[in-house]
Amino acid sequence: MTTQPAISDTGTVTETSLETPRPLHDNAQRGFASDNYSGVHPQILQALAAANGGHQPAYGADQYTSRLQEVMASHFGAAAEALPVFNGTGANVLSLQSLLPRWGAVICAETAHINTDENGAPERVAGIKLLQVPTGDGKLTPSLIDQQAWGWGDEHRAQPLAVSITQSTELGTTYTVDEVRAIADHAHARGMRLHMDGARISNAAAHLGVPLREFTTDAGVDVLSFGGTKNGLLFGECVVVLNPEACDGLEYLRKLNMQLASKMRFLSAQLIALLDDGLWLRSATHSNAMAARLRSAVDGIAGLTATQATEANAVFVLLPRDVADRLRQSFKFYDWDPATGEVRWMCSFDTTEEDIEAFIAALRREMGAG
Ligand SMILES: Cc1ncc(COP(=O)(O)O)c(C=O)c1O
Repeated sequence: MTTQPAISDTGTVTETSLETPRPLHDNAQRGFASDNYSGVHPQILQALAAANGGHQPAYGADQYTSRLQEVMASHFGAAAEALPVFNGTGANVLSLQSLLPRWGAVICAETAHINTDENGAPERVAGIKLLQVPTGDGKLTPSLIDQQAWGWGDEHRAQPLAVSITQSTELGTTYTVDEVRAIADHAHARGMRLHMDGARISNAAAHLGVPLREFTTDAGVDVLSFGGTKNGLLFGECVVVLNPEACDGLEYLRKLNMQLASKMRFLSAQLIALLDDGLWLRSATHSNAMAARLRSAVDGIAGLTATQATEANAVFVLLPRDVADRLRQSFKFYDWDPATGEVRWMCSFDTTEEDIEAFIAALRREMGAG
């Protein structure tokens, strides 16, 4: 029995004796599988506890959601409108739906999460055709966009009316401010709107060293899926409208798509805690630094080839199959392309230097690098 704060039936926090719940998992187990494998940042848990107790209006009419509007505006500009949602797939589906009519299509990289990892939700739920473009590094360019930007006015072709880019990309690369601006200008000049999947936007900002609005609002992005979960939230992402003239019906679409949280204060409280005092940047800077450390060790081990620039919190490497199998006995990570032996190692806000050093030591041992 331990003495610790407890929460009464009415939500009041009191000092009491209670049995500490035992975790069902091994707390010491760590790995590089995904930034979704990490837990919740302690500051986020504190923010949730602080938002608990008492009654607050439901469905976003609470004080936390109204404060969140100010916080988002401080990062993305006065016109920014924040709509908290449960998850990233929901944020992407909502954002794209708000940009497009029924006959619209979205140009995206072949590797985009909306294309590869959302079980067809943009197509099935939003009813939107995705027009994919192969890319080597997960990034679109104006000329790559042009591979699919054609056929306007042809009733036989889904109409390309939006472009979606991911920042940082699924391959751990980032768009510079100028690259985003060039894509936005190119899209807008052709009557298309621009969506950014920012599931890891904080990692991109940490890498670029610029404020969030510089490569979003100021660069011409119309709507953003802002990521929280991968950067230490319990759960929660946010659709952020940057150009209100480009988006339509988001409040209705959020409910229609089952992304309207009744107890929204708990989504908003987390996003405020992330964005209000720089936690978003500290955490992302840390996870990027851990990935950079791992990458520089990889570059020094003969027989290992990194396949992408390490600009955010991911490292992609070609790894001999037997080495991967043995490493996985102690550290979890995913294959990215089983055909080539490419694997992905992700760092998160709670990856420690000791985690990295232990992994590097195992990697060197398995590669016979001493
Ligand atoms: C680039 C990207 N977008 C969106 C998401 C959000 O997905 P989820 O619906 O699992 O929150 C992810 C998660 O892996 C992602 O990597």
